[in-house]
Amino acid sequence: MKLFIDTAEIEEIRKYAFILDGVTTNPTLIMKSGRKFEDVIQEICKIVDGPISAEVTTLTAPEMIDQGTKLAKIHKNVVVKVPCTIEGLKACKELSKKGIKVNVTLVFSANQALLAAKSGAFVVSPFIGRLDDIGQTGLDLIEEIVKIYKNYNYKTQVLVASVRNPIHVKVAGEIGADICTCPAAVIDAMFKHALTDVGLQKFMDDAKKVKK
Ligand code: E4P
Repeated sequence: MKLFIDTAEIEEIRKYAFILDGVTTNPTLIMKSGRKFEDVIQEICKIVDGPISAEVTTLTAPEMIDQGTKLAKIHKNVVVKVPCTIEGLKACKELSKKGIKVNVTLVFSANQALLAAKSGAFVVSPFIGRLDDIGQTGLDLIEEIVKIYKNYNYKTQVLVASVRNPIHVKVAGEIGADICTCPAAVIDAMFKHALTDVGLQKFMDDAKKVKK
């Protein structure tokens, strides 16, 4: 499974760049960074050599196509993110025809994911944490989408989004999702285990006692 980071914070991206396959951003994350949209995307593209999602901030298909085409010109790795609406999927179809990769975002049902695949999406982003927040099991949605895409051999990749904890990542991998995009805190937690720390401390202490 590919691992992406879900952030617009450059230092977080630098910290984990060695294990990252890509980056996702959204307007909220860009706003939190306090920086200009284009500047952030350009800088991220210099750090990670993989798909970098940049989201449109318009609502009609013609506007999204126009904005998406401009975003794609920032760097060859930019993937244009559009919302899973009728207009967004129309834009997805047109942008894909032009050879621009599209990430269909804000996906909360298997049928939305099916429509995104039929519109030529490069990746689809089901938001599992936000489903968990309203009492639906987000990971069930990943299972449904992976099954449907497999049944019909859709090439659209399943990018698990709105990830809140390491269990989300592990189960997404067990299900067979293509990509998981995680906030820095989740990536950090994936590295850690109490027994690793205890074991390392013992090895370091014992190493000092080895005869010279
Ligand atoms: C996906 O690309 C989104 O940026 C993201 O995963 C949203 O997650 P949130 O629900 O934590 O805001």
